Amino acid sequence: MKIIKCKNYEEMSVKAAEIFAQQINEKPDSVLGLATGSTPLGLYAELIKMYNDGKIDFSKCVSLNLDEYSPIAYDNDQSYHYFMNENLFKHVNISESNFPSEDDPKAYDALAEELGGIDIQLLGIGENGHIGFNEPGDVLIAPTHMTGLTESTIKANARFFESEDDVPKAAITMGIATIMKAKKVVLMASGAKKRDAVMKILADNIDPQCPATILKAHPDVILICDEEAID
Ligand code: PGA
Repeated sequence: MKIIKCKNYEEMSVKAAEIFAQQINEKPDSVLGLATGSTPLGLYAELIKMYNDGKIDFSKCVSLNLDEYSPIAYDNDQSYHYFMNENLFKHVNISESNFPSEDDPKAYDALAEELGGIDIQLLGIGENGHIGFNEPGDVLIAPTHMTGLTESTIKANARFFESEDDVPKAAITMGIATIMKAKKVVLMASGAKKRDAVMKILADNIDPQCPATILKAHPDVILICDEEAID
């Protein structure tokens, strides 16, 4: 695992954007796996800047979302489809047909394979070490799958909805094998709250109670973090 330790969030965002720009410039028809959450917002803003400066062209890229609530309408402002559109896609030249949504887990993995596999997968990390909606547990699930949200996740996400009852109770998430099949993985971690999970990734063992530790078995992972997230 390559580690890029940055002074702050801004530097992390620029570094990550450089990696994505290089990928897309070298392979314009790259299959991107992109993530929602607070962590990638700076990266997406940098990519939009690069696009506006003519340094990056998304016209041939396809993007697969890491996860999505289920059921949820794509135009619901809490859907991850909507998030990606608002924070990246509508600002760059990617066509809507090139960012399909996850509504059928089985078809999603087949689609990734049909496209030749994910070239570069972006991940944030949960405080508990989750990646996507692969939450800590006794086992890690390999394929893209439907999963119930834990009570703590429902509570944590209730702030984005009118009430806790409105939070979807399930989600579709890329599975651990789906993520591990990506040719390159960029994992971003910012802030002291992520430090415990990051330190577990740097320890020797792979632990399903911290799903991100599986990334140690991937041949091409870049961990980009700020000083608060790593010793
Ligand atoms: P965050 O979420 O980027 O909003 O911290 C990351 C995650 O929970 O995977």
